[in-house]
Amino acid sequence: MNASLGKGTDAAGATAVGSAVGSAEARPQREGARGEVLLDVRDLEVHFPIRRGLVFDRTVGHVRAVDGVSLQVRRGETYGLVGESGCGKSTLGRGILRLEQPTGGQVLLGGTDLASLKGEELRRARRQMQMVFQDPMASLDPRQSVESLLTEPLRAHSDAEDAVPKARWRERVLEMLEVVGLPASAAAKYPHEFSGGQRQRIGIARAMVLNPRLVIADEPVSALDVSVQAQVINLLEELQDSLDLTYLVIAHDLAVVRHISDTIGVMYLGTIVEEAPSDDLYEQPLHPYTISLMSAIPVPDPDVEDRRERILLAGDLPSPANPPSGCRFHTRCPFRQETRCHDEVPVLRELAPGHQVACHWAEQVRDGVIRPAATASDPTAAAGEAVVRSTA
Ligand SMILES: Nc1ncnc2c1ncn2[C@@H]1O[C@H](COP(=O)(O)OP(=O)(O)OP(=O)(O)O)[C@@H](O)[C@H]1O
Ligand code: SF4
Ligand SMILES: [Mg+2]
Repeated sequence: MNASLGKGTDAAGATAVGSAVGSAEARPQREGARGEVLLDVRDLEVHFPIRRGLVFDRTVGHVRAVDGVSLQVRRGETYGLVGESGCGKSTLGRGILRLEQPTGGQVLLGGTDLASLKGEELRRARRQMQMVFQDPMASLDPRQSVESLLTEPLRAHSDAEDAVPKARWRERVLEMLEVVGLPASAAAKYPHEFSGGQRQRIGIARAMVLNPRLVIADEPVSALDVSVQAQVINLLEELQDSLDLTYLVIAHDLAVVRHISDTIGVMYLGTIVEEAPSDDLYEQPLHPYTISLMSAIPVPDPDVEDRRERILLAGDLPSPANPPSGCRFHTRCPFRQETRCHDEVPVLRELAPGHQVACHWAEQVRDGVIRPAATASDPTAAAGEAVVRSTA
């Protein structure tokens, strides 16, 4: 039983980060937020073929890593994407950037379908979307100096109409180092000469050097010490305001996502199962998966902590090559019901303004009509045998 998100991450880790970030409070509504939609993802699919055969290479199935995801991110806002390891978060991010070829659906940036672009138009769109990676050591070539690493994107796009002229490259590199809080002397150094947090600052400077509109940060702090995570998160927030950036932040740590996000999407086995404004999701999670995950996070108040009901989540994530029928979560759902869960796919539906959930029984779960089968305070009940209370 493990309700934590991702490899080796536990609820205690989430709290530690939350306090390091300053507080685990949700992000306050910011000035200028609720702008026009910048990123519009419609029913995106990224399926990977599974090939077999020594002589005849044939496709025997597909890994449905991303299987019909729709989401929108407004200009200047941050969309936080959470879900456990293997649920398809990175593939979704890579599919949006077309680093992975989508097998279905659409990605619109500022209203333009990226699939319709070619040549210079596509290159321009690519410049507007950049990625910050989890492991800065792996994403930065150790043989290149910081100056060379930061100049590379400028060189790659040097023939664009609005390119930074070569004579200004060094100035631009030094400017970016200053923006991310590194001294000018860093330009001549190599990645191994920096700490993990400093390396991530270099990764961020590299992503920002082309002045993008959208930044997809895939687990930007999970490889860093807890003490440094807060600094990097704060830097991302500062840059968002000063550089007018829109973020899609992928994380398995609920506290990090809560702190930085305006809207949060919870992903399970290639699909979004719940989406809500950050505050609303934490105040009233509605999908059984989100409820189970939230119930695993310790509460600082010892009295509340004593009364806290932990919902136990059974088993591991099923294979995306062969997802369960009906509701994909039914094999692990502590609220599972005899009807509909096994054979009817729940669609995302809005239960409160901006709060969408893909569960047939969300209202009954919310109202306490259906109770979870197994909790830490009542571990004798078997998972999957949810209790239905009389509504009379
Ligand atoms: N190139 C690929 N070929 C085949 N399967 C892949 C490929 N890339 C990812 N997958 C599979 O797609 C699924 C989703 O992977 P993905 O890396 O997107 O998950 P994730 O949510 O980012 O996980 P993590 O939190 O561990 O980073 C996994 O089952 C993974 O094995
Ligand atoms: S539809 Fe059924 S199995 Fe799926 S989350 Fe809701 S209660 Fe659980
Ligand atoms: Mg990933």
